[in-house]
Amino acid sequence: TLSQHYEEKIRPCIDIIDNLRSLGVEKDLALPAIAVIGDQSSGKSSVLEALSGVALPRGSGIVTRCPLELKMIRSKDEGWHAKISYQDYEGDIGDPADVEYEICKAQDEIAGTGLGISEDLISLQITSPNVPDLTLIDLPGITRVAVKGQPENIGEQIKRLIKKFVTKQETINLVVVPCNVDIATTEALRMAQDEDPEGERTLGILTKPDLVDKGTEQTVLDIVHNEVIHLTKGYMIVRCRGQKEIMDHVTLNEATETEKFFFKDHSHFSTLYDEGFATIPKLAEKLTTELVHHIQKSMPRLEEQIETKLAQTQKELEAFGTGPPSDPSERLSFMIDKVTAFIQDTFNLTNGDEVKCNS
Ligand code: GDP
Ligand code: NA
Ligand code: MG
Repeated sequence: TLSQHYEEKIRPCIDIIDNLRSLGVEKDLALPAIAVIGDQSSGKSSVLEALSGVALPRGSGIVTRCPLELKMIRSKDEGWHAKISYQDYEGDIGDPADVEYEICKAQDEIAGTGLGISEDLISLQITSPNVPDLTLIDLPGITRVAVKGQPENIGEQIKRLIKKFVTKQETINLVVVPCNVDIATTEALRMAQDEDPEGERTLGILTKPDLVDKGTEQTVLDIVHNEVIHLTKGYMIVRCRGQKEIMDHVTLNEATETEKFFFKDHSHFSTLYDEGFATIPKLAEKLTTELVHHIQKSMPRLEEQIETKLAQTQKELEAFGTGPPSDPSERLSFMIDKVTAFIQDTFNLTNGDEVKCNS
């Protein structure tokens, strides 16, 4: 059955990577991940919000200032749990309504209270029956000009951070592009293409279909049908809450319904709905499948990296010699040997110095 397939294949696959990541393995090995990139205000946080069901910091200007790892774990039990961790801190979040505040607090602590950015990761883990099994990384949006209070080179800093993620073979790039801009001029797509020209690990996400310029609907259809800028992984299209809907307190559940009817009834985009290219739930499905395939594909490479690292570490360990003996009667002579060796080394060093000085 589907749920059996899910329990046996999908969750264990994602778990192994998340566990490695929480062990801090990422410092040494590149782990499979999905990174969300796009221009500022293209709708990145809105997409993440819709996928996770939790309000994230969002709005105009720079809001995401640190990489945010959003780990979603679908549980069978009712109830919602979240945990936030960054640097040495780890804390529980009891209420979805507190997530936004906790992330802002974490960002202030890591990147300062101004408008600067940092490369340090904030990790948010959400366990609930209503989330897809996915781990996504939200990144600061690309900006061109620094605003007051920002370092002059903020644009460069952000691009460097994004590049760090898109360069890795292990990252799936989720490039978010609004329907009302010219996709060909999108910096984020260009950055992804520089590293992944065929789009083998790049997926395009079109947002704001309700704001499409009248008369350009056919172009959007062509893009989603992969006929404009070809990506092997293709495109999806979603509709999230606009600023007004947020102010009117439209819930994320209501937004899912609105989205469905928006596409089903749309005079141009209904075909995309029928073809399975539209809506957040379809995107969630696609991303989970993509992530699992990607993890399976990355496994041999990961194993190779681990073997190499292990051999290196083994060699370093051997260079240290044996540790103190467990038999107490042998410890004194072990200690004397070490001290003698140390004195000899010190002597050799001093001697060497003297020779150098005299010559
Ligand atoms: P980010 O900077 O890329 O993270 O963008 P945000 O998610 O913060 O979104 C920027 C603005 O676009 C917000 O005001 C959102 O409400 C709005 N927005 C996002 N998606 C849509 C959409 O599908 N339709 C409309 N009308 N507005 C959207
Ligand atoms: Na924003
Ligand atoms: Mg954002």
